[in-house]
Amino acid sequence: MSRYSRIAGTGGYLPKQVVTNDDLAKRVETSDDWIIERTGIRRRHIAAPEETASSMAEIAARQALEAAAMDPGALDLIILATSSPDRVFPSTACLLQQRLGVRSCAAFDVQAACSGFIFALSIADQYISAGNASRVLVVGTEVNSRSVDWDDRSTCILFGDGAGAVVLEASSELGIMSTHIHSDGHYQDLLYLPNPASNGEGSGNDESRTIRMQGSEVFKVAVNTLGRIVDETLEQNGLQKSDVDWLVPHQANIRIITATAKKLQLPMERVVVTVDEQGNTSSASIPLAFDEAVRDGRIKRGQTVLMEAFGGGFAWGSALLRY
Ligand code: ACO
Repeated sequence: MSRYSRIAGTGGYLPKQVVTNDDLAKRVETSDDWIIERTGIRRRHIAAPEETASSMAEIAARQALEAAAMDPGALDLIILATSSPDRVFPSTACLLQQRLGVRSCAAFDVQAACSGFIFALSIADQYISAGNASRVLVVGTEVNSRSVDWDDRSTCILFGDGAGAVVLEASSELGIMSTHIHSDGHYQDLLYLPNPASNGEGSGNDESRTIRMQGSEVFKVAVNTLGRIVDETLEQNGLQKSDVDWLVPHQANIRIITATAKKLQLPMERVVVTVDEQGNTSSASIPLAFDEAVRDGRIKRGQTVLMEAFGGGFAWGSALLRY
């Protein structure tokens, strides 16, 4: 009998504080019109000083567990994607494990920048389909606001904070059909966050602690790469574009999302868009968008969902699933 990973529950959390484009225009030379036209972003949520990747992850995880009617103690594995961990070590997954009051199940972080959730989902799916785990919590959580240079108008307008989670359960019913992950480290200098604590001689010696990005270069590669991964995903499953009910993309820029939807010949009504209200929440953006569309009833059981992401590395990936 086939063994699939089925999404049993979803959860999400956004910090209370909202920063609008007009708020940013008071600090850097930009405008609401420019930001909306180039990115589609209108506002973003920013974590309070006491909030961290693990505190936000806990709220999203508890919601997902509740939706799955599952006790945290039943989890076999916790995989958490983040580029803004509370500590370099131990992993934020371990901190989340403690917050959930769970002991002994394995918990570890995955770092693949904005594609982190897809990478984490892919690993979780391998564990479940191989029979090595039956109940896995997968989380994406980010406090990007602490890595942003608030005086750099080309990046500070883009990012937001938040956390999203799904609980996967082994099932004989169709769930995740396939995941596809790729990386190419040759692009590392186009988008990165230095770590001054470990930069030694020969590793860049970059003293800055903020996100560095060559936006238009990233944009071009992202659009082409996401087009290719859509084809790869459908081909492997022998599906047509018309078989996809929903696209749940990473939320970096509305123009990248629109280009992928066009490639799929999918009307924008079938694309879950949160970038306008949340900005780019990196690894949290896909589980946040998915949770929103499940909770408001847009995505229904039995529908086919394509998730895709692209980010620093470059690292990119997709997941096709029957919800
Ligand atoms: N307000 C006004 N003008 C601005 C702003 C701003 N906020 N930011 C940049 N500009 C100016 C630039 O200085 C430049 O001016 P110049 O022509 O006088 O030099 C002009 O606007 C055009 O700049 P570009 O960078 O070419 O603008 P572009 O249309 O490419 O938009 C953007 C920039 C929004 C960053 C876009 O390139 C983008 O979204 N890139 C992809 C980002 C992404 O997907 N990242 C991956 C995920 S992130 C992760 O993995 C962590």
